[in-house]
Amino acid sequence: SPKTLRDQFGRKITYLRLSVTDRCDLRCTYCMAEQMTFLPKSEVLSLEEMLELCTAFIARGVRKIRLTGGEPLVRKNILWLVDRLGYCVGNGSLDELTLTTNGTQLPSMAVDLYKAGIRRVNISLDTLQKDLFHKITRRDQLDTVLDGIEAAKSAGLKVKINTVAMRGMNEDEIPDILNWTSQNGMDVTLIETMPLGDTSDPREDGYLPLTAVKEKLDTVFDLTPSDKRTGGPARYFTVGNTGQKLGLITPLTNNFCDGCNRVRVTCTGRIYMCLGQDDHVDLRAALRSDAPEQALSACLDLAMGLKPKGHDFAMSNGKMIGKVNRHMSQTGG
Ligand code: GTP
Ligand code: 5AD
Ligand code: SF4
Repeated sequence: SPKTLRDQFGRKITYLRLSVTDRCDLRCTYCMAEQMTFLPKSEVLSLEEMLELCTAFIARGVRKIRLTGGEPLVRKNILWLVDRLGYCVGNGSLDELTLTTNGTQLPSMAVDLYKAGIRRVNISLDTLQKDLFHKITRRDQLDTVLDGIEAAKSAGLKVKINTVAMRGMNEDEIPDILNWTSQNGMDVTLIETMPLGDTSDPREDGYLPLTAVKEKLDTVFDLTPSDKRTGGPARYFTVGNTGQKLGLITPLTNNFCDGCNRVRVTCTGRIYMCLGQDDHVDLRAALRSDAPEQALSACLDLAMGLKPKGHDFAMSNGKMIGKVNRHMSQTGG
């Protein structure tokens, strides 16, 4: 259909990642500085505006929406938006609505998320050790997150765990995390740290190439490459005879941008075509114009022309390059 969003390299954009807030109740060291300045609330779109935006994307062929943050579940009244978007899944105008969360709010929210139409969540968890969790996230919340994971599963949500692999931190724990997730019926995806925004420590300190991790895992687990590509960045492997899926997201060691199907929208209504790019288009002005539908559609066409072939994240002589000045919490994970 001529309405479908397609970029200048012929890639179809059918997946929207919407950051509903830049705020978070944790302070993961690779994501944020200890002292973060968050956006003033007046800059942030209302939930009604976010729904209007999503509707405009759906009208242009988007089939999958993922709510991210910051931590999406700390946004006040977020269930209102989840309910409305869940309705789009119910009536077939969306294939899937999902969520990437740190899990702290799931003990009280998992049941309502399921009721609203969410079936699958990705939960970030980098360690199973209480002290290390505190060190990585700067908050002593491991037990809450573990309760949240339990609550999600009990509510009927399929859970995938996202683990950022960090040198000298959770490096030696990765086999344990694979075993624990598989025992609990969950898939797991490992992620390389990306140079997004300033953090207290140099990015290079914690950088752990997943090529090295994979080599080590191969000595312990029987990993078979899987054909399954979700249109997402992960390369998947099937683990031994458990059938568990292990995903590897390797922006630095192995660029996956050829098959990119996604764009991101920030909580202030900027559309970014790539995590690793500064170019963006302001959808908020279009949203607040006299003819929002036409204006938004025109902005999306403009945005498609800006989508780069890929990001420039890489290691070069021990330095991380391709850095952007926005944090992951602004662009959405
Ligand atoms: P599913 O395949 O539906 O599970 O989605 P996903 O794996 O894309 O979603 P998820 O939110 O779990 O993504 C995991 C992490 O991968 C993100 O938080 C980012 O760190 C990273 N990631 C996702 N998409 C991109 C991308 O387009 N570029 C880069 N560089 N990293 C990405
Ligand atoms: N590099 C890689 N992953 C990151 N995340 C946050 N910041 C970064 C970064 N700089 C991860 C979180 C979570 C997901 C939303 O993104 O751990 O799993
Ligand atoms: Fe919060 Fe996620 Fe960033 Fe951690 S990685 S501080 S949980 S937004």
